[in-house]
Amino acid sequence: MVHQLAALSIRPFRAEEWPAYRALRLRALADAPDAFSTTLDTQQELPPETWAARLSAAAASGKDCPLVAELHGEPVGMAWTKVDADDPAIVNLFQMWVAPEARGQGVAAALLAEAVRWSGARGAQALQLGVNCANLPAVRLCQRAGFLETGLREPFRPGSELVEQRMRLALAS
Ligand SMILES: CC(C)(COP(=O)(O)OP(=O)(O)OC[C@H]1O[C@@H](n2cnc3c(N)ncnc32)[C@H](O)[C@@H]1OP(=O)(O)O)[C@@H](O)C(=O)NCCC(=O)NCCS
Repeated sequence: MVHQLAALSIRPFRAEEWPAYRALRLRALADAPDAFSTTLDTQQELPPETWAARLSAAAASGKDCPLVAELHGEPVGMAWTKVDADDPAIVNLFQMWVAPEARGQGVAAALLAEAVRWSGARGAQALQLGVNCANLPAVRLCQRAGFLETGLREPFRPGSELVEQRMRLALAS
């Protein structure tokens, strides 16, 4: 799917692209440790088979859509949409990250737009995510896209002083 930047494309990762997925994900965790509840330490030790299995399982599940953003053909961003395990009317968005050199051009907005499109096409009623309250670029991005605070706040990680807020975008039914 092509968005407002002619050189930008947002599409699902193919299962065999797990090395590119791993590279982006590890870069994201190193770049923005307080944006994700998962840590670089736990992920960089994982064997290749685990990364390959993640994308294979996603491709087969029908409930996952791992997205890659490419600018001029280079992977510069990612996000993972997943149907909620308890409520199929809800899609959760995880792992959203844009490489620093590609920020401020609407790449994340385009990732969100594709997540909204995918969720709507599945008949979901809402797209939701958790964001560190102190992560103002991410909070602003979500607000601009129409996400509202649910009022649910909790520690970002067990024992962490960082607070995560849940945000939700109602989708047209
Ligand atoms: C938060 C994050 C995903 C935003 O990515 P991004 O691609 O820079 O986001 P966008 O370009 O869509 O929007 C960001 C800014 O660029 C501006 N922008 C968007 N399109 C633009 C364009 N075409 N030209 C100029 N500026 C533009 C937006 O107004 C916005 O400005 P603001 O935040 O100062 O109000 C990125 O900073 C990131 O990866 N951060 C670390 C990880 C993270 O926080 N993930 C989110 C977890 S919930």
